[in-house]
Amino acid sequence: MTENQRLIFVVEVGPTCRETVYDWSVPLEPFNAEPPRSALVSSYVTPVDLFYKRNHGPIPVVDDIERYCVDLVGLIETPKKLYMKDIRALPKYNVTAILQCAGNRRTAMTKTRKVRGVGWDVSAIGNGVWGGAKLADVLEIIGIPKLTSSTQSGGKHVEFVSIDKCKEENGGPYKASIPLSQATNPEADVLLAYEMNGEPLNRDHGYPLRVIVPGVIGARSVKWLDSINIIAEECQGFFMQKDYKMFPPSVDWDNINWSTRRPQMDFPVQSVICSLEDVQSIKPGKVTVRGYAASGGGRGIERVDVSIDGGKTWIEASRFQKTGIRYIADDMNSDKWAWVLFEVTVDISHNTEIVAKAVDTAANVQPEKVQDIWNLRGILNTSWHRVQVRVGHSNM
Ligand code: MTE
Repeated sequence: MTENQRLIFVVEVGPTCRETVYDWSVPLEPFNAEPPRSALVSSYVTPVDLFYKRNHGPIPVVDDIERYCVDLVGLIETPKKLYMKDIRALPKYNVTAILQCAGNRRTAMTKTRKVRGVGWDVSAIGNGVWGGAKLADVLEIIGIPKLTSSTQSGGKHVEFVSIDKCKEENGGPYKASIPLSQATNPEADVLLAYEMNGEPLNRDHGYPLRVIVPGVIGARSVKWLDSINIIAEECQGFFMQKDYKMFPPSVDWDNINWSTRRPQMDFPVQSVICSLEDVQSIKPGKVTVRGYAASGGGRGIERVDVSIDGGKTWIEASRFQKTGIRYIADDMNSDKWAWVLFEVTVDISHNTEIVAKAVDTAANVQPEKVQDIWNLRGILNTSWHRVQVRVGHSNM
């Protein structure tokens, strides 16, 4: 490999994820990548190098950090500029939270019926420790108190506008919004993050400052933050109004009406087997099945069930979260936004289908079949995760 090349898993629009040697001298825009599934569950906190990357435009360069600032504008008395030193002067919080692309597991959905979008396998998700200031503290600086759902001037949403430019926005910036009630709720843990896993954010993940909205699809966690806009209606940007909406299976490109659906915010309960490929050859005997499970909105994982007979009978997996932290979804001190890693050892003697399904603390369960949740954009594939194992009796 030359100096300009790095081995990375690059995903492109299409049905499969494949290992590619990417030539860095040729600009690939946008840059999207996910790690191999087996690597994903090798650690509870996902290392930066293994964290998926999802971009809609070229990655911007912010090199003058002294001059970099976030503009606070919109329906407020006095607009304000916040420099990095102002943001760093606020109390710092470390929040362990997953980011998951709404399109995670899209490749499996498109096998049922074609969908449009980046062909992710199962690794467009990662569990990071995000360090930064709470948005609720930042908004207090401009006179919006904690737990506000509407300001006197009619502000009800907080829009995040980025530095990067996307073709979907006709060359304008990537943007998204969340309700003001969520932004001003300290327990929602919405961050203006400048650190990832204890290190300054790198360029791929939003240097110098990004939003982290825990429990919500990754699309709302805007990177390379340029301004925060207090607005009356939710953001009218492409990715809020013409993308990342969940349609029923009856809607296709010839009868779609985007305005009939709300922008997707929370993600549903999800689990994935990562220790086995979709079709895996094994020797007969003991097999350890490992994977991740997570739910949105701060709902924790109640349990993960694994089946070795295609879903007829189930075994409860044991699960792991951070040592010494009790996992209670509504406890401020728990990792309520993080994932759970699960593990169970099973005996396999013949070809079969191994399945995982998770249950969250609100007793929501993953849907059995991908067909029932098929949608034209291929988002939120949270159907039972299935892998086929082929048992061989020779040396494998
Ligand atoms: N923010 C900006 N400015 N531009 C983007 O393209 N992509 C979004 C979100 N924030 C995006 C963005 C999407 S769709 C996802 S899933 C996450 O960032 C991915 O974050 P990551 O690349 O740090 O993993």
